[in-house]
Amino acid sequence: MNQVIENINTRVSVRDYKDEKVSDEVINELLKLGFRAPNAMNRQSLAFAVVENKEKAKEYSDRAKTFRLDVEKMKIKPNERVINMLSNEDYNIFFNSPVQIFIFSSPKGIAPIEDGSLAAENIMLAAHSMGYGTCFVGFAQSLGQDPLFRKDMDIPEDHSYIAALTLGRPAKDTPIKSRKDVNILGWIR
Ligand SMILES: Cc1cc2nc3c(=O)[nH]c(=O)nc-3n(C[C@H](O)[C@H](O)[C@H](O)COP(=O)(O)O)c2cc1C
Repeated sequence: MNQVIENINTRVSVRDYKDEKVSDEVINELLKLGFRAPNAMNRQSLAFAVVENKEKAKEYSDRAKTFRLDVEKMKIKPNERVINMLSNEDYNIFFNSPVQIFIFSSPKGIAPIEDGSLAAENIMLAAHSMGYGTCFVGFAQSLGQDPLFRKDMDIPEDHSYIAALTLGRPAKDTPIKSRKDVNILGWIR
């Protein structure tokens, strides 16, 4: 089968990682492939930050969990599953992955969310093709406004946070999640 299609069909979100360093070469290659993604008017506004320190990652996970939990509790209809997950002290939003990649955009970007999301998918697919696992971590969102995180990572004030991804060698096989039939709304011929 066409390898690109095979790669898309077999990628999964990985939530259990081997305690194994990912080489700088691999990380740099993945960032380059992320940056290679389509981006609005080729402004090339994306910038990346990388964390390879488990203690720091746990600290960031704890800070993001506290913030996200408070937000969830304020909702009229809080999501009990989210509350249970984030109240669990042992739950690390980065799953103790050896690497976390954060994607930012400078103000040059005219479609930062789209640019960053396309870069994230490039990284996830490329990583999978190289035998690495990834997971998009929406729970990390508040780190984008967290002064401690931004200062630690040297994020310029004008850069906006787009996404966080985990990266590492999967500790076990993850079953592929199926998808429903594609919902086609209109199709004019
Ligand atoms: C915007 C976005 C946010 C996500 N946030 C999380 C998250 O915080 N934690 C998590 O475990 N998975 C997260 N995921 C992964 C999804 O749960 C996952 O893609 C989905 O269940 C389908 O599974 P698959 O990626 O294995 O096919 C997120 C995915 C997206 C696109």
